[in-house]
Amino acid sequence: MNFLKSALLIGGVGLLSATGAIYFGVVHPGADEPHSKPVFRLIETARERAIAVRASDIVVPALGDANQIRRGAGNYASMCVACHLAPGAPGTELSQGLYPAPPRSAPSG
Ligand code: HEC
Repeated sequence: MNFLKSALLIGGVGLLSATGAIYFGVVHPGADEPHSKPVFRLIETARERAIAVRASDIVVPALGDANQIRRGAGNYASMCVACHLAPGAPGTELSQGLYPAPPRSAPSG
């Protein structure tokens, strides 16, 4: 019984602290300044877990089909290149201004 009371007390204090930290703006999820280490780790872990859970059923298709590669390159050019750039391309305002920085998909020239 004492154990249960202690666990409830510790859980309640933890919940109150987390609520207080959020209410008083201690946790800053905005991307206009670098996150503190704990906030960065929390967001990173949430992202990694969300991807792992949602990607677990994906079956990678055969990757050698020329038409599929051409379609993918077109999709990349229209949807991804502004941030992830193209081989030899200089950085864009978008690719350089984002936090965290988008990884370069191809080496620079
Ligand atoms: C508006 C900018 C933007 C666009 C457009 C964009 N991305 Fe990203 N992408 C990012 C950023 C920023 C990250 C890094 C996120 C992080 O580190 O949390 C990222 C990360 C990734 C990663 C993870 C890379 C790694 O090494 O972990 C992949 C894969 C990716 N993007 C693919 C794509 C694809 C495919 C497209 C187009 C369909 C695309 N992105 C469009 C900004 C963008």
